[in-house]
Amino acid sequence: MTRLTGKILVVDDDSAICLVIAEALKRQGHIVRTVGSIAERKEALPVFAPDVLITDVMLPDGDGLDDVAAIIAQEPDLKVIILSAQNTLNTAVRATGQGAFEYLPKPFDLNELSRAVTEAISVRASSHAPRSDGEGSGEDLPLIGRSPQMQEVYRTIARVVSNDLNILVLGESGTGKELVAEAIHSLGPRRARPFVAINMAAIPRELIESELFGYEKGAFTGAMQRSAGKFEQAEGGTLFLDEIGDMPMDAQTRLLRVLQSGEITTVGGTRPVRVNVRIIAATNQDLTNLTAEGRFREDLFYRLNVVPIRLPPLRERAGDVPLLARHFLDQAALGGLPRKSLSDGAAALLELYDWPGNVRELQNLMKRLTVLTRDQEIQVQHLRQVLTFAESLADPSGIGVVELREAARRWAREQLAVGGDMSASELHDRLLGVIEPVLLGETLAAMDGNQIRAAATLGMNRNTLRKKLTHYDIDPAMPLRER
Ligand SMILES: Nc1ncnc2c1ncn2[C@@H]1O[C@H](COP(=O)(O)OP(=O)(O)OP(=O)(O)O)[C@@H](O)[C@H]1O
Ligand SMILES: [Mg+2]
Repeated sequence: MTRLTGKILVVDDDSAICLVIAEALKRQGHIVRTVGSIAERKEALPVFAPDVLITDVMLPDGDGLDDVAAIIAQEPDLKVIILSAQNTLNTAVRATGQGAFEYLPKPFDLNELSRAVTEAISVRASSHAPRSDGEGSGEDLPLIGRSPQMQEVYRTIARVVSNDLNILVLGESGTGKELVAEAIHSLGPRRARPFVAINMAAIPRELIESELFGYEKGAFTGAMQRSAGKFEQAEGGTLFLDEIGDMPMDAQTRLLRVLQSGEITTVGGTRPVRVNVRIIAATNQDLTNLTAEGRFREDLFYRLNVVPIRLPPLRERAGDVPLLARHFLDQAALGGLPRKSLSDGAAALLELYDWPGNVRELQNLMKRLTVLTRDQEIQVQHLRQVLTFAESLADPSGIGVVELREAARRWAREQLAVGGDMSASELHDRLLGVIEPVLLGETLAAMDGNQIRAAATLGMNRNTLRKKLTHYDIDPAMPLRER
């Protein structure tokens, strides 16, 4: 087996990152050079003539993504791998739009990076031209979340925005399936044309075909005039087939025929008409199950499922909860309600909940808290008033040490990755500042507010407990679940 090696230029202003990458790649036989700015990158490119450019986005002298398209235009064989700590959908889409070969969110996995480098070198011969379209200008992209799971979603979205592949969005209720469909539409070349959604579960089964394909005047009783169906309304744009698992069998058969032929015939019509529509379907059901039970056509499933996008339930990306929660508080404020902030303790508590209604449930809760909370800052005690799960945490046997530890671990990792310059002792203080007030409050609640018993349970002296209660602004008389 011949080893695929080449010349790699690494651009990152963090010399530690440069060093780690360089060491790993050299060990694999690559020739590596590292620089720390856009200016140095410009200088090194023509001289060093790398096969692969690995570049950070936020560089001291500007945005490292800005002239990637220009670099590739000059050197079409060059493969560019983007590393970024700004792990938003925007970055993923911009990287792809600029013609980058791969986008890796920071913190990245070294194995993944070296795999990407090997892959880049191996496909160098069959290089493809950069694209400048398909790049949304959008600053405020609708999807919030920086968890690795959402990064994966962003990367898939970035890969599909500028083609017409059928997409199947999967995920529990409230995970953002419709939002993803809208994002794909609004970032792609069809964005100037309509985005039309139809919910299979909300339409009486006998009306589905006329809704989808339209009908002619007199096609059935009550058809007083010709009516355009959703396919026709979406011409040139995107049709979002929501709750596809609820589509009746006969309608599935007709839909399959339309997808195969690219033509629709209206109900009562005779002449098939060509349609140009991108299809994005979504469901919270397990289509494989439905297929096995004979309730969903297998051939239709394969047609729709060209690129699946799986949206993780919120409980599996709890690290995104504080970000989303604060976003929804801002959103509520835009609607004219007073602007509320969220204490770190309250945010940590929200991370522990399992969110059966996912992002939608969090959104609704933030709206409710905005209305119900009189203080400017939403704190742990406010959550207790509205969340039954916080009550269950007050049960000493249900404190959920496992979940707590899990949340703390995730949080610590994230802080170390994002904060960069935070020392371990700062992190220790902050982590304790999040967990300790929750622990104190819950213990007091379990002891019916009795500080002597709470102090004994916690293994601390009563004065220490009192000091901590003052420090964290916990009212010892009021940590009760009844509040
Ligand atoms: N990542 C996200 N960032 C910001 N808002 C989000 C995100 N995901 C979902 N939302 C918001 O949560 C709500 C629910 O999302 P959406 O309607 O897309 O979910 P869904 O998966 O289609 O749910 P259902 O299966 O119940 O139809 C919407 O108001 C949406 O704007
Ligand atoms: Mg939906």
